[in-house]
Amino acid sequence: MMLKYFDLQRYTAQHREQLQAAVSRVVDSGWYLLGNEVKAFENAYAQYIGTAHCVACGNGLDALSLIFKAYMERGLLHPGDEVLVPANTYIASIISITSSGLMPVLVEPHLDTFQIDAQQMVKHVGPRTKALLIVHLYGKCAFTNELLSLCSEHELLVIEDNAQAHGCLWNDKRTGSVGHAAAHSFYPGKNLGALGDAGGVTTNDEVLVGIIRAIANYGSNKKYVFQYVGQNSRMDEVQAAVLSEKLKWLDQDNQRRTAIAQHYVEGISNENITLPTRDYLVNNVFHIFPVLCAQREKLQQELHQRGIETIIHYPIPPHKQQCYSHWAQLSLPITERIHNEELSLPLNPTMTDDEVQLVISQVSDIKL
Ligand SMILES: Cc1ncc(COP(=O)(O)O)c(C=O)c1O
Repeated sequence: MMLKYFDLQRYTAQHREQLQAAVSRVVDSGWYLLGNEVKAFENAYAQYIGTAHCVACGNGLDALSLIFKAYMERGLLHPGDEVLVPANTYIASIISITSSGLMPVLVEPHLDTFQIDAQQMVKHVGPRTKALLIVHLYGKCAFTNELLSLCSEHELLVIEDNAQAHGCLWNDKRTGSVGHAAAHSFYPGKNLGALGDAGGVTTNDEVLVGIIRAIANYGSNKKYVFQYVGQNSRMDEVQAAVLSEKLKWLDQDNQRRTAIAQHYVEGISNENITLPTRDYLVNNVFHIFPVLCAQREKLQQELHQRGIETIIHYPIPPHKQQCYSHWAQLSLPITERIHNEELSLPLNPTMTDDEVQLVISQVSDIKL
């Protein structure tokens, strides 16, 4: 028997009745796009995050790109402007910047939190720097007071990539409500995941919302009148209905994730494995539980043989990817170390206490 990294079939089965009722409601309604389910989810999610608005869209990458494109249409960002972004993020964060005609500037993270390092960030601020795309990677809030005061000192737009951190709290606010605008992915494996692709933007900025809604609708706010060169990015009614149900369980799921993370930190003991630090453990919804290990591949194989599936987030950093080959010579030692040594242990709300204990005992037992 293999303990899956995240058994989505098991998760969905635990909530089958409510999810099937939500899907059936849409099937029976005869209305599949731009309807009441999307409106209801937008309202519920905005209220949950603590913003005035939520715009539902097709996926998390679209959510990010829509924000950048809307700021450009509004004249607050211009082609070639620089956007600071952590170097160790998932590639979608970077793609959203380059595909909008903006310039990503890669910033090293802290090794102890995996989040962007304010001291490194400030070294990269220049006359063309106009925004920070802050990524709450692995479900850990990346904000610090220092970082936010640097952003206001340099008048940077703060855009949050909250794809991995739904429900995360920072100073009594939720991530996704702290910056000027935030993108959310509801990819099925996320803490709040749909039964397919879905995404959303949260913000208090009503003007931005108007532009984003238009761009996501072929560039139109009025039937057959096109103000922008837009795209088609819509959340469908089925996904909205599913997400409205799943939103009800998000806090409870995040509490279970937090409890498992605590068990891991207290229970795992292996001199060859570095566990997350105390700093990492606060303001975190544990989308991912990362450990560092110099012999990561061997650790992964050993765990596989012992019936535990793990995943690497992520094996190749963006600056070493073929699609960004002009960055190949960049030296980003902390980012590279994370990409070489990171291994994610299974951690999700479906796990039983016995499975949690199995992970603790097997990880502690392995000799490398
Ligand atoms: C940090 C981050 N940003 C953006 C995305 C893109 O989201 P999506 O897969 O919904 O396009 C993801 C997830 O896939 C992500 O993990």
